[in-house]
Amino acid sequence: MARYLITSALPYINGVKHLGNLAGSQLPADVHARYRRLEGHEVLFICATDEHGTPAELAAAEAGQDVRAYCDEQHLIQKRVSEGFNLSFDWFGRSSNPPNHRLTQHFCEQLEKNGLIEERVTKQIYSIDDGRFLPDRYVEGTCPVCGFERARGDQCDNCQTLLDPIQLKNPRSKISGSTNLEPRDTAHLFLLQPKMQDRVRAWVDQSTDWPHLARSIAYKWLDEGLIDRSITRDLSWGVKVTKDGKPRPGFESKVFYVWFDAPIEYIASTVEWSEATGGNWERWWREDKGAKDVTYVEFMGKDNVAFHTVSFPVTIMGSGEPWKLVDRLKAFNWVTWYGGKFSTSEQRGIFMDVALDLLPSDYWRWYLMANAPETADAPFTLEHFQQTVNADLANVFGNFVNRITRFAETRFESAVPDGGEFGELEKKLEDDISAKLQALSAHHAAMEFRKAAAETRALWVLGNEYLQVAAPWTAIKTDRDRAAVGVRVGLNLCALFAIVAQPFIPDAAGKILDAIGVPNENRKWPSGAGERLLDALPRGLKLTPPDVLFKKVEDAQVGEWAARFGAGS
Ligand code: MF3
Ligand code: ZN
Repeated sequence: MARYLITSALPYINGVKHLGNLAGSQLPADVHARYRRLEGHEVLFICATDEHGTPAELAAAEAGQDVRAYCDEQHLIQKRVSEGFNLSFDWFGRSSNPPNHRLTQHFCEQLEKNGLIEERVTKQIYSIDDGRFLPDRYVEGTCPVCGFERARGDQCDNCQTLLDPIQLKNPRSKISGSTNLEPRDTAHLFLLQPKMQDRVRAWVDQSTDWPHLARSIAYKWLDEGLIDRSITRDLSWGVKVTKDGKPRPGFESKVFYVWFDAPIEYIASTVEWSEATGGNWERWWREDKGAKDVTYVEFMGKDNVAFHTVSFPVTIMGSGEPWKLVDRLKAFNWVTWYGGKFSTSEQRGIFMDVALDLLPSDYWRWYLMANAPETADAPFTLEHFQQTVNADLANVFGNFVNRITRFAETRFESAVPDGGEFGELEKKLEDDISAKLQALSAHHAAMEFRKAAAETRALWVLGNEYLQVAAPWTAIKTDRDRAAVGVRVGLNLCALFAIVAQPFIPDAAGKILDAIGVPNENRKWPSGAGERLLDALPRGLKLTPPDVLFKKVEDAQVGEWAARFGAGS
């Protein structure tokens, strides 16, 4: 038994996330956490809302709410939605909670002790009409790199370049629209990342367990050379800046930059978990307190990779303390909405809360993971969604379970039949199934979600092919024992298929296992070693055929949703 610490990138607090966000971090993290738990490992799965910075302040202002009240409300909304999607977090914390304030201040003080922090006077954009500085997203303007006219102060959404607000051409205030702006002097703390460059590179060199996308992004940054990075902002909402545990003189109206405190919340959310449950967070995060044997796995979209492979590690290593660093990192490309962007303001795309009103979460989970944006961006289209869930879930898996459980109900007194012996057909099936199971486990272990979904589907297909040939409905007319074998194997397959489908579609899988009467302790991942895969259920075990497991998505629904969610527009 091993120990896995699993984190998903923390969703910004500024509104419910869309299906693309879900597919690129929280959902695959959940699938992996479920897989590792089923294997019998000890798992701690941590997430939280990312509540500081200009995204939070701007969204609160737009909603006409005080930022704290806004965050309180949105946190609960995101928490509820994540429960609706069966995201099995051990803790869903908040970066605005006290543990993150304490830890963020602690890290900065450690970094300063180690000579990695410097206070510098910088020029920032000051808005005369708004009477304040305008950090990050408080300014918009023309991108100096690609000419995009609505680039944000921190990043251009068109070419992804990270920016400093002062670089924007024709800057304007996001608060008032005012262009009456001027550069003014203000002091900030800089993290001297170049001093850590060699250590970070050495660490990336030995992190051979990262997929290509993550490594190439990390090297791109290292090759360009790390720069001194400002880690404070002229804002009031956030973690206050301290020195020796007291407010830092000259920094009374400043807070840490959101990207400095957010990843620290991975640790702080674990502290929240331990405060709430009596758990021991240090055992997961401190190498001197037992975390040496933890495998730490992070999930995120590709825009987050640099922060997790370079910036956060600089913070962690620079502290000089024995904190856990990421061991395995899984990064995703984007899910697009018909090749374009999801957009709240333009009502394009489906967001998590709305998705749950339309269909059970398993439908979305299955589709998003079967088409995970692993090697390239993956377009979401309602038509492809309909095809996929109707084919895989309704036709292949749902029908299989339905057919065999109904038949067992009518012809074998709703029980796992006794009698008959395995023939060549069953022996061959057993071999095929165990080969596929091995492949499936390998894909899950490698966090290859598309392949894992394809292999899961391939197992279901094998089951259908078996029933086609074994045809207990024909056999029963002449050879009841042969039919009994077919039904027994069919029911065992149902249980097995549901067991291995749990990471992807936990609700439906649970329903099937309940219907067949498989107790919880027998729902573990098959180890493959000497198991009687097709003869595991006790003979005579009673079952109740489940109700329709997956209703087909109808053309009329697709038409209605396409209009409502701006498909193809
Ligand atoms: N909120 C960020 C985003 O959505 C992700 C933060 S991940 C963390 O892009 F590590 F910083 F917390
Ligand atoms: Zn640009």
